[in-house]
Amino acid sequence: MDQTQNSGMEYSFNEIIYFLNGTKQSALLPPGLTTLEMLHNKLHLYGTKCSCNEGDCGACTVVISYPQEGTIVYEAINSCLYPAVKLHGKHLITIEGLGCPEDLHPIQQALLEHHGTQCGYCTPGFVMSLFALLASISHPNMENIMAALEGNLCRCTGYQSILDAAQELSKDHDPASIIPPWCRTIEAQLFSFNEKTTVRAQVSNSLFKIDKYLQVENCRELAQLLSTHPNATLIAGGTDVMVQVNIARRHFPCLIDICGIAELKNIRLKRDGIHIGAAVTYSRIMDSGIIKTDLPALIEICRLIAGKQIRNSGTLVGNIANASPIGDSLPLLLIYETRLVLASEQGERELSLRDFFIAYRKTALQTGEYIKEIIINRPFQDTFIACLKTAKRKS
Ligand SMILES: Cc1cc2nc3c(=O)[nH]c(=O)nc-3n(C[C@H](O)[C@H](O)[C@H](O)COP(=O)(O)OP(=O)(O)OC[C@H]3O[C@@H](n4cnc5c(N)ncnc54)[C@H](O)[C@@H]3O)c2cc1C
Ligand code: FES
Ligand code: FES
Repeated sequence: MDQTQNSGMEYSFNEIIYFLNGTKQSALLPPGLTTLEMLHNKLHLYGTKCSCNEGDCGACTVVISYPQEGTIVYEAINSCLYPAVKLHGKHLITIEGLGCPEDLHPIQQALLEHHGTQCGYCTPGFVMSLFALLASISHPNMENIMAALEGNLCRCTGYQSILDAAQELSKDHDPASIIPPWCRTIEAQLFSFNEKTTVRAQVSNSLFKIDKYLQVENCRELAQLLSTHPNATLIAGGTDVMVQVNIARRHFPCLIDICGIAELKNIRLKRDGIHIGAAVTYSRIMDSGIIKTDLPALIEICRLIAGKQIRNSGTLVGNIANASPIGDSLPLLLIYETRLVLASEQGERELSLRDFFIAYRKTALQTGEYIKEIIINRPFQDTFIACLKTAKRKS
């Protein structure tokens, strides 16, 4: 008999420390467990819903808060695609934390008063998306509201009642009245957080879709790991990789997460063009002063990609590396004659985006190599570039 049938398989479990609705927590997580699976199967918190399990419907929306450039951000994400291990050092806010029937949060109260909920299945997701919006912007306008809610689907209300509630909230509330005091208490702890996440070998009789999930903190470590783990797959936002895990049931022997590498999160203007690091999300690009001034067409493209939750996690470099012929960013990046910086233990090389794609979903990336950053030429003055998306449905 196969020995593994008796003793189980050896996996790498991740030990993380995070905050959940105002309380510090530690967790030992099987590799690749999603935040939604953790909420349902480990914590028995069922307020966050699951419908599509692939980032489309927003029923599973939760909010994460963490420090970014000296401030605390509140971001809506799809918990069905968000590996729970990424929560290390962050504050996870779920519908259970915001309000209860006896003491509704102002967002829940407004939805109730405007009849913004019918069967209620989508409602926790809408509440969390509105929470992220109102915690981030004072008095958002209709465009902000639409952008915040485009990743949430409702099959009952027809949306108008939800928009009415959101508009009333945007008039009467600012972040100070939306963010509960226990969130503020955690903000100070998020700034000073410096604990390490650990990986522990563990034998389990359960079968997991991922054997090993590694997080790296710098490019040197990443290059070393890629040379010692030739079967590893990189994961950035996970909005493509985790769909393959959830829907295609694809098995990954090893995922290496690059989102903890600070130097890959930069957008810099240099003499040879605009450098965008591999871990920069669409939302960061849309907020960047450099991109707003020098590459406004790129912001237009990012706005056309998916909904807010996906843009908060997904990266531009992930869109390139995915090499899908329907990747929305690719035509514009090709027009700009974008170059890629490819790095490995052997050093770095530059390659044009045109030469990077060699066949359907095949790239010139070699074993042990990763995309470190992309360099986009600044358009000449008075150049006019407009972007259209022909697909009728956006996400
Ligand atoms: C609901 C939904 C809607 C979407 N809508 C759109 C849309 O409208 N338009 C569109 O174009 N896309 C869309 N996508 C696809 C997806 O969001 C994008 O392709 C995204 O940019 C991928 O980035 P990521 O960081 O999440 O990549 P990941 O899932 O982390 O990785 C994607 C691939 O890139 C590789 N990779 C990542 N980083 C690197 C690196 N630095 N070096 C080498 N390889 C790397 C990974 O190994 C993997 O193969 C959608 C996805 C979902 C789930
Ligand atoms: S369950 Fe539909 S987006 Fe997560
Ligand atoms: S209230 Fe039923 S899906 Fe939105």
